[in-house]
Amino acid sequence: MVYHGLKGVTCVETAISRIDGEKGKLIYRGYNADQLALASTFEEIAYLILNGVFPNEDELQTFKEMLASFRVLPESAEKLIASLPSALDDMAALRTVVSSFGDITYRFRPTMAEAVRLIAVAPTIIAFRKRLMDGKEPVQPLSELGFVENYFYMLKGKRPTEAQMKALETYMILAMEHGMNASTFSARVTVSTESDLVSAVTSALGTMKGPLHGGAPSAVTGMLEDIGEKCRAESYLRAKLEKGERLMGFGHRVYKTHDPRAKALRIKAEEIAGDDRDIDLALHVENTAIRLLEEYKPGRKLYTNVEFYAAAVMKAIDFDASLFTPTFSAARMVGWCAHVLEQAGDNMIFRPSAKYIGEMVSQ
Ligand code: ACO
Repeated sequence: MVYHGLKGVTCVETAISRIDGEKGKLIYRGYNADQLALASTFEEIAYLILNGVFPNEDELQTFKEMLASFRVLPESAEKLIASLPSALDDMAALRTVVSSFGDITYRFRPTMAEAVRLIAVAPTIIAFRKRLMDGKEPVQPLSELGFVENYFYMLKGKRPTEAQMKALETYMILAMEHGMNASTFSARVTVSTESDLVSAVTSALGTMKGPLHGGAPSAVTGMLEDIGEKCRAESYLRAKLEKGERLMGFGHRVYKTHDPRAKALRIKAEEIAGDDRDIDLALHVENTAIRLLEEYKPGRKLYTNVEFYAAAVMKAIDFDASLFTPTFSAARMVGWCAHVLEQAGDNMIFRPSAKYIGEMVSQ
């Protein structure tokens, strides 16, 4: 029997997260991720995912200070980013710079301190590169800002509003972890050879870069831009469905009910809808699309997925499409590191087999 793409194959035991596609639940360390995302900070949930328990006040303070202290890029990394060819896309740049951290101090077994360092520095790499590519001076991180607020600040050169910050923070918490997805699997495979954390995360970044995994936010953004006005939504979506095309941001391989991440993001999106035309349009497009999908594809259980509101939120906070997958990766760095630490704690090298279907020439 060949399990193409390992679909349906359970290959590890994990205490980090659980997905129930039928019930629309995503659980981080025993708690509903959507509720955590609405009520907590990035730092609190990163600590929970990495350690399995919530921090007390002192532990949280120490964790925040560690994250803040590793934010500043070493000069060698700044030089490396400045020397990268402009033809490298943002994910290739992030992968290359993260890889450059893998000196001999990183080795098997990976440590929590190494994980915190990588999580802390990823947003700075993304922002530094993005500003250079946009012809702007990079902005140095501010240690007094929270993780998400500082990321926004380094990209934009100004602090976000409270609503912008919370919308981005909700998204980044919801993007932190999602079970045995392709990039997490590749991180675990890499460390299972007793390689190091930087190598494992570099593998994960290379995997995340592919459009089948890192998402297609530009498709959702493109659709919302094409629609442009609420009054055009129904005719635009109906025309797509009449032609047998798919509506971007709807349907999910695992979730056969509402994607809990989309539901939580929608709440945040609604909070800025009052003064944001894009979110207002997205809310209208969602309602219209769900109604039309039920009409054209009855019983298929097609609902909004995380991509839809992620794209809407990113647009509302003025993050362009090139930032989507890097931002997703900066958040998912937490999940990758947690899985690498878990894998290293009870390791067995991954070595599946392949069925030979070539010729047999020798006797
Ligand atoms: N628009 C219209 N029809 C759809 C959509 C959609 N977005 N999604 C599924 N369908 C229809 C299919 O045409 C099919 O109809 P049929 O029974 O008449 O042939 C039926 O629903 C089942 O489709 P499958 O492809 O078998 O469903 P699956 O659950 O495997 O697909 C997928 C999941 C690939 C995400 C799909 O829903 C899709 O293509 N969505 C649009 C792209 C998108 O939003 N991708 C992001 C996913 S979220 C993430 O990756 C983090």
